[in-house]
Amino acid sequence: RLAQLTGLTAGVLRLGVVTTSKYIVPGMLGPFCRQHPQVEVELRIANRNEVITRLMANTDDLYVFSEPPEGLDIVTRPLVENALVVIAPSDHPLAGRANVQWSDLAGDRLILREPGSGTRRAIERHFAARSEVIKPQMIIESNEAIRASVSAGLGIAILSRHTLAHAAPNEFVELDVVGFPIWNHWSLVYWRGKALSPVAEAFIEAVLPVVNL
Ligand code: PGA
Repeated sequence: RLAQLTGLTAGVLRLGVVTTSKYIVPGMLGPFCRQHPQVEVELRIANRNEVITRLMANTDDLYVFSEPPEGLDIVTRPLVENALVVIAPSDHPLAGRANVQWSDLAGDRLILREPGSGTRRAIERHFAARSEVIKPQMIIESNEAIRASVSAGLGIAILSRHTLAHAAPNEFVELDVVGFPIWNHWSLVYWRGKALSPVAEAFIEAVLPVVNL
């Protein structure tokens, strides 16, 4: 405890996080690592299924999911909100239009993440709740490559707004589609029975006040 207060916590912090959260986790690590300069960090970034595999194998200290796995004896502590929005090429005919219906976009090529992605899962749940099935015409395993593909005019996509920061003018537009954003939030996740290292404990204490930035 004294070591934590004086910034002397040392050791390795192993984090396994889903791809969309890589935009928020560095912002949490910055102040923490400044306060604990002797901490080494190993940050693994993968899609939801791959992070679940790491969780099941108890590979890391802590995990970040926006779609935590169900039915496991895990602790789930909410972090920041995550909004999934529809983006389109900036010259899209419905750019700037209010209350676009999803059916108005039926003629657009839809680009989605791969099965195994939490983003994809949240999107499928959103449409299933409306008794709709969506079928992507293009599957791309990277938020950044999807963004670039939309900007290149290949189609429309649904992505976490956190992956869309610092867009150049005319790179893409966010469409105002009824029912969007799809809202969820990231959570810090760990096994309930796990004996956490002092570094992992200190990280939890440091980041939880960040709730709902
Ligand atoms: P993913 O990340 O789409 O890369 O799996 C988001 C999540 O798991 O919710």
